[in-house]
Amino acid sequence: MNVTLRQLKVFEMVARHLSFTRAAEELFLTQPAVSMQIKQFEDAAGLALFERLGRKIYLTEAGEEMYRLSRDIMSKMSEADLILDEIKGSEGGRLLVSVASTVQYFAIRLLAGFCKQYPKVNVNLKVTNHKGLIQLLENNETDIVLMGKPSEGLDLVSEPLLENPLVVIAPPNHHLRDKKGILLSELKNETFLMREQGSGTRTSTERFFAENGMKISANMELNNNGAIKLGVEEGLGLGIVSQHTIDNEVKTGRLVILDVQFFPLVRTWYMVRREGKRLPAVGVAFENFVRQEKLRFVRLP
Ligand code: PGA
Repeated sequence: MNVTLRQLKVFEMVARHLSFTRAAEELFLTQPAVSMQIKQFEDAAGLALFERLGRKIYLTEAGEEMYRLSRDIMSKMSEADLILDEIKGSEGGRLLVSVASTVQYFAIRLLAGFCKQYPKVNVNLKVTNHKGLIQLLENNETDIVLMGKPSEGLDLVSEPLLENPLVVIAPPNHHLRDKKGILLSELKNETFLMREQGSGTRTSTERFFAENGMKISANMELNNNGAIKLGVEEGLGLGIVSQHTIDNEVKTGRLVILDVQFFPLVRTWYMVRREGKRLPAVGVAFENFVRQEKLRFVRLP
């Protein structure tokens, strides 16, 4: 069968998401380009690999078999990359790091420090929420992840990294800004800007309020910290964010931290990888750099 690696990669992505659109997005291709690759693959195979029922696509029997094989081939290809990286040593090579959106500010500084020490390293950084990171780990699409505590039961190795205090932020003209020891009940009538489902910050905030018998009104859901901070600055409501993400805004007086009972809620960031995952030399160098140098890059207001 005369199939190119590129066709295999496109096929694997469409089969994984069962969506031409998602595959096109992830591969930075247009949808017609994806359809063309799949068509050429099917022509070479002499069989249909997908079938369309209504608006959904499904793998055919041949498609299922090819999906299993293509994952094996892709994983062998990354193994080949690893072996070449090992030969190159930590001087060069590619580092796949993924971080939670609360970690991104710290992670960028950390990576800048790391790249100064290892200027030939090629870094690929993905920023997403807790749920997205678990998916990346499960799909073996990343080497190292910096994130909130992953749930038990997954085959992951996690080591605690730093405290991640969550605080309540408000615009500087908020009526509670100078009040000490604000009671939770005093926030009853406040509106909160919440992170999206799948965010670790959202899960722990909801859990905290539920444990304290309080239902907060979340009129607006925003899928990143930057948007929450801007929304709070604009007076749309209060936010609950990691203290690591607001250094600049607090310094310049655009946001204030409210002194609320039980806050900060202290979570922990972890450095996580799949158990048994063979890290490239550059990955091992990065892990050691994080362990030794992390405190240099922390900026808390
Ligand atoms: P998130 O980050 O809120 O962006 O998901 C924190 C975490 O990983 O728990």
